[in-house]
Amino acid sequence: MLEIFKETGILILESLWLILPAYVANSFAVIVGGGKPVDFGKKFVDGKRLLGDGKTWKGLIGGIIFGMCIGLVQTYSADSIAFPNFGFFPIFFLVLFCLAFGALSGDLCKSFIKRRINIERGGKLPVIDQLDFVAGAFLFLLILSPSWFFQNFTVYHIIIILVATPLLHRIMNIAGYKVGKKKVPW
Ligand code: CTP
Ligand code: MG
Repeated sequence: MLEIFKETGILILESLWLILPAYVANSFAVIVGGGKPVDFGKKFVDGKRLLGDGKTWKGLIGGIIFGMCIGLVQTYSADSIAFPNFGFFPIFFLVLFCLAFGALSGDLCKSFIKRRINIERGGKLPVIDQLDFVAGAFLFLLILSPSWFFQNFTVYHIIIILVATPLLHRIMNIAGYKVGKKKVPW
C-alpha cells in the first residue's frame, strides 16, 4: 500500500518536473506581457482581431526565454536529484524550445479560435483555456522530438498533467488577478 503512494507521488513530481518549462513559459507571458500585440492590431477577414491585445510580443518572447532558462537549470540539476532530464547537448535546446514555444503557440492558437467564435479578449473558453499550452507543448514535442517524448512521458504522466493542469491553472490565474496582471480570475 505504502509503495503505491510512493510510486504515485514520484509520478506526480516527475510529471510536473517534465512540464515545468511549459508552465513557466505560460506564467511568465502573463507576468512580463504588455505592449505591442503579436497581431499588430490587425483584423482577420471576419473583421475581428486576429489574436487580440492579450497576446503581446513581450509576453511571447519573455515566456520563451524564461521557460527555456528554467529548463536549463533543471537539466543541470536533474542528475543530482535523480529526475528525468531534457536530453543531452544540443538536444535539450530543441526539447526546451518545444516545451516553451509549443506552450505559447498553443495559447496563440486558442486566442485565434476564440476571436473567430466571438469570444472577446479575456472571455472564457472552458477546458481549452486551461489545456491550450499543454496541448501545444505536447504537439511540438511529438512532431520535433518524438524520441525524447516517448522516452520520458508515459501515459500516466500525461494523464496526471491533464488532470493537474486545470487545477494549477485556476490557482495561478487567481494569483495573477490578485496582483493585477490579469483582468479576470480565469
Ligand atoms: N500575455 C501576453 N502575451 C502572451 C500571452 C499572455 O502579454 N503571449 C498576457 C496578457 O496581458 C494577457 C494575460 O497575459 O491578458 C493573460 O493571458 P491569457 O489568459 O492567455 O489572455 P487573455 O487576456 O485571456 O486573452 P484571450 O481571450 O485571447 O485568451
Ligand atoms: Mg485568458
